[in-house]
Amino acid sequence: MAERYVLISLILVVFSLSKVATSTSTTPAVFIFGDSTADVGTNNFINETKAKADFPHNGVDFPGSRPTGRFSNGYNSADFVSKLMGFKRSPPPYLALITQQQRLHRRIVQAVNFYGVNFASGGSGLLNETGNFTYVRVIPMAEQIQHFTKIREMIIDARGQESTDTFLSRSLFFLSVGSNDIFEYFGGNGTASDQSFITFLKITYELHLRMLYSLGARKFGIVSVPLIGCCPSQRIHNITEGGCLEDMNLYSHMFFLSIEDMLGQLSLELTDIKYSLGNANEMVKDFMDNPLALNFTEISSACCGNGTNPCSPNATLCPNRNQHLFWDLYHPTQAAAQLAALTLYGGSRRFVTPINFMQLAAATF
Ligand SMILES: *[C@@H]1O[C@H](CO)[C@@H](O)[C@H](O)[C@H]1NC(C)=O
Ligand SMILES: *[C@@H]1O[C@H](CO)[C@@H](O)[C@H](O)[C@H]1NC(C)=O
Ligand SMILES: *[C@@H]1O[C@H](CO)[C@@H](O)[C@H](O)[C@H]1NC(C)=O
Ligand SMILES: *[C@@H]1O[C@H](CO)[C@@H](O)[C@H](O)[C@H]1NC(C)=O
Ligand SMILES: *[C@@H]1O[C@H](CO)[C@@H](O)[C@H](O)[C@H]1NC(C)=O
Ligand SMILES: *[C@@H]1O[C@H](CO)[C@@H](O)[C@H](O)[C@H]1NC(C)=O
Ligand SMILES: *[C@@H]1O[C@H](CO)[C@@H](O)[C@H](O)[C@H]1NC(C)=O
Ligand SMILES: *[C@@H]1O[C@H](CO)[C@@H](O)[C@H](O)[C@H]1NC(C)=O
Repeated sequence: MAERYVLISLILVVFSLSKVATSTSTTPAVFIFGDSTADVGTNNFINETKAKADFPHNGVDFPGSRPTGRFSNGYNSADFVSKLMGFKRSPPPYLALITQQQRLHRRIVQAVNFYGVNFASGGSGLLNETGNFTYVRVIPMAEQIQHFTKIREMIIDARGQESTDTFLSRSLFFLSVGSNDIFEYFGGNGTASDQSFITFLKITYELHLRMLYSLGARKFGIVSVPLIGCCPSQRIHNITEGGCLEDMNLYSHMFFLSIEDMLGQLSLELTDIKYSLGNANEMVKDFMDNPLALNFTEISSACCGNGTNPCSPNATLCPNRNQHLFWDLYHPTQAAAQLAALTLYGGSRRFVTPINFMQLAAATF
């Protein structure tokens, strides 16, 4: 089982490299929404936010070994998903692009070097309030979508309505969000039997998707909340038994089931959408059950900060970063993010349902 999985991953690596080298993508652009798992520098532009990663050791394995704002030693899931869609890495953050309006406009008009926008903001969630207290200022999903409407208007101005509709309907809308909502609620005294909060998140998620649909999105690639109870930040609370926080993981599980159900219903009503839902729980479980087969030797403690301290310039840094599952208290390493993206792209229905990202990209209407 584990060996087969590794094999599939390796085949996919080779496949994706050849794809990048030879073909033009059928996906013209990727639009990325969510939290720190997908942020590629949005929060660098928010002076007052406390959710930042624009300092070492973040980025130590990024080209040039520089911090970019990614909460990672290198690339993150937004980058790897973009790569698998045929691009170099994630498109730049919206807040970076709008500092150079004319250049952005030119790129959109000429359809050169414009393959999407990344709106994701570290610390944010599905709810407007999430992250507002803990990190002072983040960009919640509703505001990320407002930013998308501005980009859409620019595309319509440049290319006209019909061409824009086609362009957007073929583009991938990648969403990775929900963990921070659950972190904040749980910290604020949720109990694991509290289905009502998860239902509230589901309804909010649906509203966001309907809004994106009304703006022309048709292909949704969604990642559920991973086993956040297994993050080093949560393991601290179960040191005596050396395990995860099981209540937190139960929330992740409930969230997945809720979102899966919601997407199933939504696609019955909006019959011209296609979607893939990544089951991040199953992915993390697989990493933890078969660590060695996947070349992970350390699945519980963080690489930067050793799992007890936040990652900072003076924190301890592990040498074998490719063998750690966790980069810091909350985030996966580049190696884990890559494996996750490969699984989203080519994985079986245990990991991504009802179709995987490769099938989603290939789908025509
Ligand atoms: C953020 O800080 C920079 C540099 O200190 C400053 O130029 C910029 O105006 C600030 N932006 C906002 C929105 O306050
Ligand atoms: C965020 O916090 C600020 C300051 O406390 C408050 O004024 C604002 O209404 C809050 N926003 C949301 C969406 O909760
Ligand atoms: C969330 O914030 C947006 C503005 O960014 C606002 O339009 C929307 O009504 C808010 N949603 C809720 C549920 O308060
Ligand atoms: C949270 O729950 C604990 C018991 O589970 C209780 O002692 C505490 O007062 C609660 N805190 C708040 C803010 O409600
Ligand atoms: C702590 O970890 C152990 C071992 O994995 C597990 O059985 C236990 O339920 C965990 N405790 C909590 C509070 O999650
Ligand atoms: C990291 O933490 C482990 C225990 O969790 C400890 O054995 C080890 O010495 C620590 N490493 C560093 C470099 O601090
Ligand atoms: C790193 O330095 C900061 C102050 O700059 C300090 O608060 C923190 O404890 C230090 N962390 C470690 C791991 O030494
Ligand atoms: C496993 O990780 C080690 C250490 O980072 C690396 O040298 C090796 O190339 C990796 N092996 C595979 C198959 O990825």
